Amino acid sequence: MKRTKISEVLNSTEFGKETTVMGWVRTKRVSKNVCFIALNDGSTINNLQVVLDVNPELEQKLAGVHTGAALSVDGKTVESMGSGQKVELQAKDITVFGDANPDEYPLQPKRHSLEFLREIAHLRFRTNTFGAIFRIRHAMTFAIHNFFNSKGFYNVHTPLITGSDCEGAGEMFQVTTLDLNNLPRTEEGKIDYSQDFFGKSTNLTVSGQLEGELAATALSQIYTFGPTFRAENSNTPRHLAEFWMIEPEVAFFDLEDNMNLAEEMLKYLVKYALDNCRDDIEFLCKRREEEQKQKPANERDEMNLIERLEFVLHNDFARVTYTEAIDILMNSKPNKTGKFVYPVDKWGVDLQSEHERYLVEKHYKRPVILINYPKEIKAFYMKQNEDGKTVRAMDVLFPQIGEIIGGSQREESYEKLLATIEERNIPKKDMWWYLETRKFGTVPHSGFGLGFERLILFVTGMSNIRDVIPFPRTPKTAEF
Ligand code: 4AD
Ligand code: MG
Repeated sequence: MKRTKISEVLNSTEFGKETTVMGWVRTKRVSKNVCFIALNDGSTINNLQVVLDVNPELEQKLAGVHTGAALSVDGKTVESMGSGQKVELQAKDITVFGDANPDEYPLQPKRHSLEFLREIAHLRFRTNTFGAIFRIRHAMTFAIHNFFNSKGFYNVHTPLITGSDCEGAGEMFQVTTLDLNNLPRTEEGKIDYSQDFFGKSTNLTVSGQLEGELAATALSQIYTFGPTFRAENSNTPRHLAEFWMIEPEVAFFDLEDNMNLAEEMLKYLVKYALDNCRDDIEFLCKRREEEQKQKPANERDEMNLIERLEFVLHNDFARVTYTEAIDILMNSKPNKTGKFVYPVDKWGVDLQSEHERYLVEKHYKRPVILINYPKEIKAFYMKQNEDGKTVRAMDVLFPQIGEIIGGSQREESYEKLLATIEERNIPKKDMWWYLETRKFGTVPHSGFGLGFERLILFVTGMSNIRDVIPFPRTPKTAEF
């Protein structure tokens, strides 16, 4: 089918061209003998205004055109007299591919709540807000591959089905073809996984890191970009059970190199969005400003979306140790006045999102990279510091989001890594291949994981992670 995209029509200044556009009707309005249709085909947030002089034949066709209908329109581009756009389409004829019955079609030209739109996730792509979000999501995917490709990183596809638990948190979805109503048992009465599909117990991966490290210890710099799965029962605006993660892993790389890479990448991505998704970001910026007006004055944003993106771009991230952060938090006003849900009372406690946001939004007032966490609260693979208490971890904390990146320098000593694996009762039989990288040509190396949806939350200014992935999976929801 020959069609011109609406984005192209709207950007052209050559008037009088014969043009065919196809898309979905946002609004239709008839006044006297003229019909105005706002048409959108997803190529831009902006609609094309279609103007039709209604004759009896067209009148019949137009009777089958409601909000949501899919049309093809033939006409000529003309300079628009109305405000808001330069070009409109003076139409000769239309073809209706499919109407949308107004008594049933749930999207009407008015503001719908995000909660309602989540219930109709199959149709929410057709709203301005979700069109903008998913165009930005695409642009960020592209920019990530671009960033790494331009630096000579190789993209590695790591498996989704694994036998290991990278983060050691035990939050995995099991993968099995065993009959759950009739499980085979060993002599000791345990489930006999030797009869399962893979001959062992398997699950969906929580991270591609361990396999990524295998590739990095040969290709030097790699990254993965894939879905990961976590069966953590967290019903928060920042957690999904299925989310996408970008995990670079680099040989001959220490914690400082790792921090520099993370900061450079995040700034590159924010700049890419500002440079390439301007219309969508401006729309979302206004949308958020409207939303903010509903909030009490003391809870409103200090910066609008665009200002916040530019702020991150133009400021160095603060680099702070966990120990310094704990001091700041223990002496902070919300801690002393009991405002934190989780009080910070001693060195060693894990940080909650309220603490992370306090550090970023109130104390440092810029993104923060927190390093050198207590080893007990971090994963087994992190490099131990000389103090015997902390590991070379790094979390990047962002305004509004909290943790956007988690990473570390990796323990490259075979003996130390083995000792931790044993201490934590991690089954050695599942880890032999990982350990061998430390036996054969071990090397200092580092990497991190960027939560893709948390990045999209930040760039779009949306508040709930369910609204930046097309079909969210969260506890008790896997519709669509
Ligand atoms: O901090 P995490 O658990 O780190 C890892 O998985 C490491 N293996 C990464 C690495 O070093 N290669 O997760 C990394 C990031 C978090 O900072 C967060 O942005 C995101 O993944 N994340 C989630 N995003 C959405 N929903 C969840 N349930 C998430 N859990 C983590
Ligand atoms: Mg983490």
